[in-house]
Amino acid sequence: MAASPRKGKVTVVGAGFYGSTTAQRLAEYDVFETVVLTDILEGRPEGLALDINQSRPIEGFETRVVGVGGGSYAGTEGSDVVVITAGLPRKPGMSRMDLLETNARIVRSVAEEVARTSPDAVVIVVSNPLDEMTALAQLATGFPQHRVMGQAGMLDTARFANNVAEELGVAVASVRTLTLGSHGDTMVPVPSRCTVDGKPLADVLSEDRIAHLVDRTRNGGAEVVALLKTGSAYFAPSAAAARMARAVIEDSGAVLPVCAWVDGEYGISGVYLGVEAEIGRDGVRRVVQTDLSDSELAGLREAAEAVRAKQADVADL
Ligand code: LAC
Repeated sequence: MAASPRKGKVTVVGAGFYGSTTAQRLAEYDVFETVVLTDILEGRPEGLALDINQSRPIEGFETRVVGVGGGSYAGTEGSDVVVITAGLPRKPGMSRMDLLETNARIVRSVAEEVARTSPDAVVIVVSNPLDEMTALAQLATGFPQHRVMGQAGMLDTARFANNVAEELGVAVASVRTLTLGSHGDTMVPVPSRCTVDGKPLADVLSEDRIAHLVDRTRNGGAEVVALLKTGSAYFAPSAAAARMARAVIEDSGAVLPVCAWVDGEYGISGVYLGVEAEIGRDGVRRVVQTDLSDSELAGLREAAEAVRAKQADVADL
């Protein structure tokens, strides 16, 4: 028999909507040997895994999904990648920061288990507040900073691109955007790095419309929460998280906007922050700096100081 073209194991912790759609996307890529989906609930991850596996003959993928309930980590051992989605999502009117204490307890205990069971994993955190939970997961795992990153920039960037494409009635494929900074109030959409068919955004949209789209991007998560009323977004977030996990297992070197440990880039040090980074088998290979306008750089530094203060707080949670 030919060697399987699939490799490795990815564990998704948390079988809510975010976790289950992430598991589905990872399975459908058909690049992993195994996707493990876990939850504190008994039955839900097992049921979802069975359901996804039953879709394999239709969708034509061989990756097996394994569900593990009851808060157990049996079966997750030696994962190459772990995506932590555990924690509560926002309700309408809540900021991501309102989740800080509750999710810190959950993310800390998950991260400690991950360190014990999958000591060589690359960890991708998606729980909110994102930048703080990423910093906490690094502390709680004790992993080197490059092996712990957070998902936010890909999502915010995708929202920005979708907003621009809809505003102009053009294909999303023709739009390039970038957002940096925090996954929150100090998100820094970077219009100077945004293009439509290669043309600068400022050539195709008025300043007012750009400001509107930037604002809509910054509030993109809250806009979905307000409509859903019972939770937060998961289709776009899971697409982003799954792509990051894929870049790791394929050692692709893709440059993606992620929440990564910044140590000197942009004159900022010692903080988890949304930046572009080259992703490979060991997580973040390097942070990639881009040219920013003076106001964008000021925004990024402001975001760094805002998350630095909060990240210091999480060490005690
Ligand atoms: C959002 C949540 C997942 O932005 O942070 O939709």
